[in-house]
Amino acid sequence: MTSYKAKDHYQQEEIAAAYDAERFRGLRGRSVDWLERRLLDKAMEGLEARLQVLDLPVGTGRMARYLTSKGHHVVGSDISLAMMEVGEKLSEGGAVLVRGDGEALPFADDSFDVAMCFRLLVHLPEEARLNVLRELGRVARERVIAVYQPHRLALWWLFYGLLLRRRLPRYFVPPGDLPDEFAKAGLRLVRSHTLLRGVFMEQAYVLESARS
Ligand SMILES: C[S@@+](CC[C@H](N)C(=O)[O-])C[C@H]1O[C@@H](n2cnc3c(N)ncnc32)[C@H](O)[C@@H]1O
Repeated sequence: MTSYKAKDHYQQEEIAAAYDAERFRGLRGRSVDWLERRLLDKAMEGLEARLQVLDLPVGTGRMARYLTSKGHHVVGSDISLAMMEVGEKLSEGGAVLVRGDGEALPFADDSFDVAMCFRLLVHLPEEARLNVLRELGRVARERVIAVYQPHRLALWWLFYGLLLRRRLPRYFVPPGDLPDEFAKAGLRLVRSHTLLRGVFMEQAYVLESARS
């Protein structure tokens, strides 16, 4: 297991308490939330209804609540108890929550049909990303849905890292490096979907085991 800023950052109660309001309120926040749910719908196209889904990291549970409302059985896992406690107050007995580190998940092999990962990989250095991807692939029978913010331009780093002074480091993987990253984790690309082409960089990669 590795150490990086996002692992500790969200374990602070005040960060967890402000998480949803800072990101998903107001017109922009609600639009991004809606677009991310639409992205998830696209990534799940072709899969059956009522699946066993792992939402890692579940955070305050917005995606888990969406999936349970659609009839899926969801287990949400996160390293941060503080984030899950905020989520528990919002949910009405939807997802089962299990504290866990995505680099060493507390689930048996093939426990889920789908394992999904929104808004985490961008905060992880390479070693941690590979650990998490391998774990998602290990626990998922059918598909892994992994959201990245791929970008080629080094200037983008400058913009985000220095000018916007983001609180958390972001690691942008060039799109050309992703097939190799997936292969190192024992996965291969099935298809991908963009959040909003030309506006938001987030991309959902639908992956399957390279052994199948
Ligand atoms: C930006 S939030 C995303 C939450 C949720 N997926 C969403 O889209 O709203 C990042 C989450 O990753 C969690 N996290 C960071 N490192 C983790 C790890 N190694 N294992 C599990 N959760 C982790 C943090 O605690 C935090 O809740």
